[in-house]
Order: sequence, then structure tokens, then C-alpha cells
Amino acid sequence: MLNQQAESVIKIRDLHKCYWVGTMPFPALYGINLEIESGEFAVLAGRSGSGKSTLLNIVGALESTDSGRVEVLSRDILSMNQDQRTHFRLHNIGFIFQAYNLIRVFSARENVAYVCQLQGKSKKESMEIANHWLQEVEIGHLGYRRPDQLSGGQQQRVAVARALASNPKLILADEPTANLDSMTGRHLIRLMRELNQRLGTTFLISSHDPDVKQAASRLIKLADGQIVEAWNDIPKPPSSITSSCPMSNLPLTERLQNYFKAARGNARNKKRRRKTRRRS
Ligand SMILES: Nc1ncnc2c1ncn2[C@@H]1O[C@H](COP(=O)(O)OP(=O)(O)OP(=O)(O)O)[C@@H](O)[C@H]1O
Ligand SMILES: [Mg+2]
Repeated sequence: MLNQQAESVIKIRDLHKCYWVGTMPFPALYGINLEIESGEFAVLAGRSGSGKSTLLNIVGALESTDSGRVEVLSRDILSMNQDQRTHFRLHNIGFIFQAYNLIRVFSARENVAYVCQLQGKSKKESMEIANHWLQEVEIGHLGYRRPDQLSGGQQQRVAVARALASNPKLILADEPTANLDSMTGRHLIRLMRELNQRLGTTFLISSHDPDVKQAASRLIKLADGQIVEAWNDIPKPPSSITSSCPMSNLPLTERLQNYFKAARGNARNKKRRRKTRRRS
């Protein structure tokens, strides 16, 4: 039940997204309606291919949509141009990725400070902010090390510090513990939850990890591109969607089989065309 008083950080209405590989439609999300309130620690769970990353990327203004409405912090992000999206992301959203995505030639401190410098802060102030956040994630003493001199768990803590250093209202994390052993992952998620409760920053996290799901203030279940109440309760998409994106009424395994069949066909045709060109 949504708290009427709380401010909405994410508001999604009737969102659809279909990828195209050549002429082959590949439906990823259909009919998503979702509201995330300020201060939530919401976890998107679902099998591989259910659409978790696609949804995070759309909310993070990294990916386009086919239809629907997406408001983040009361801003209609779909109507923004590229520059507006970049500016919006830099000042409002922190990202944490499965593979950390740190800049290899920078130290941990420089990685965190970089985002502040992009925001227009001076180098000195940026370094001070970086020191503060590295201490918050309990690796203040490792700020001088480059990513390849840190463990996976320590690199992900740098990524958490980097996400928080820009002072965002929303943090999007795509499988943040997937590359970590279970103990390190558990520590990281406990730290993220603690920061969420203390700072009030809203988190939307995609994960398969039972520890992450357990830490959630709300669990959102995705199955075959739709939000479901229970895993075995996948509603059939409406006919308007199945006609515009013909594969969307098939179960995921069948969609994958069709996709690979088409991809193999494309590769065969390409080979044939190359052979014909060579002969002529
Ligand atoms: N660039 C792309 N081109 C074509 N299809 C894509 C593309 N990206 C994602 N898809 C398809 O969209 C669907 C949703 O993918 P998505 O990556 O969002 O799933 P996921 O739930 O994050 O999976 P995982 O748990 O494996 O990360 C999948 O069927 C996937 O194959
Ligand atoms: Mg994913």
C-alpha cells in the first residue's frame, strides 16, 4: 500500500519496450506500472531475461522506450534530449553496476572525486567529498589504490561511494552483489541498507541474491517483462501489444528459441551473400 504522504521518486505508467535485432522484435517489458516512493529500498527480482536491467536503464534515462510515461523526481525523462538526460543523471541519479565500472587508471579517491568535478566542483572540494564517502563505506584508508589493487568487494564499495558522492536522490544498482562471494555481498548490502536508512536516499536494485531480497523494503517481482504478484501468475499481454510486437505472447523460452533461429538464419544469409559477391 502506497503512503499518500510520501513523495514519489519514480512513477511509471503503461511502459512498453521492445528491442529489435534486424527485423526481429524482442519484447522486453510490457504494461509496467510502478511507483517508488522516497526512501524505499526496493528490489527488482526475476529470472534472467525478465527485464530487470531494461527497466533500470529506462529509469536511469539510459534507454529509450516504445510507449508509456516515466517520471523520475517529477520530471518526464522521456521528453528530454540527450544533453538534458546527461545533466539530469549527473545531478540526480547514482549508478552501481555488477562489474563496478571504475576507471582503471584512476585511484579509488579520483574515481569518486571525478563525478563531483563533472558536477562543476573544484578538485580540492571534490577530493574532500571523495575522502568523506570512502570513509563512509569503510575504505577511507585505501583511497590511494587503483581498482586493480583492490578486492571485488572493495571496488564495489568505491562504486557505492561514487554513487553517493554526487548527492543523488535516487540510486540504481544492477546486480551489485553478483560478482561478490556471499559474505562480501551480505556486508555490502547491509552497508547500502544502512546508508539508505540514515540518508533517506531511495534505492532501486535488481538482484537474484536472496540476501538482497531479504534486505528489501519492497520486493517487486518481474516475470517475462511484467510485474507479477506471484511467480506463477504471468498475465497474457493484451492483443494490442502482441500485434505490434508479435513475439510478446510467447513464453520466454520460445522467444529465445525464435530469436536464435532468426539469428542463425541471418548469419546463413550473410554467408550466402558474401559467397555470391565473391563469385561475381
Ligand atoms: N540490446 C538488446 N537487444 C535485443 N534484446 C535485448 C537487448 N537487451 C535486452 N534484450 C532482451 O530483453 C529481455 C530483457 O533483458 P534484461 O537484460 O532486461 O533482463 P534481466 O532481467 O536484466 O536479465 P539478467 O538477470 O540476465 O541480467 C531479454 O529477453 C533480453 O534478451
Ligand atoms: Mg540484467
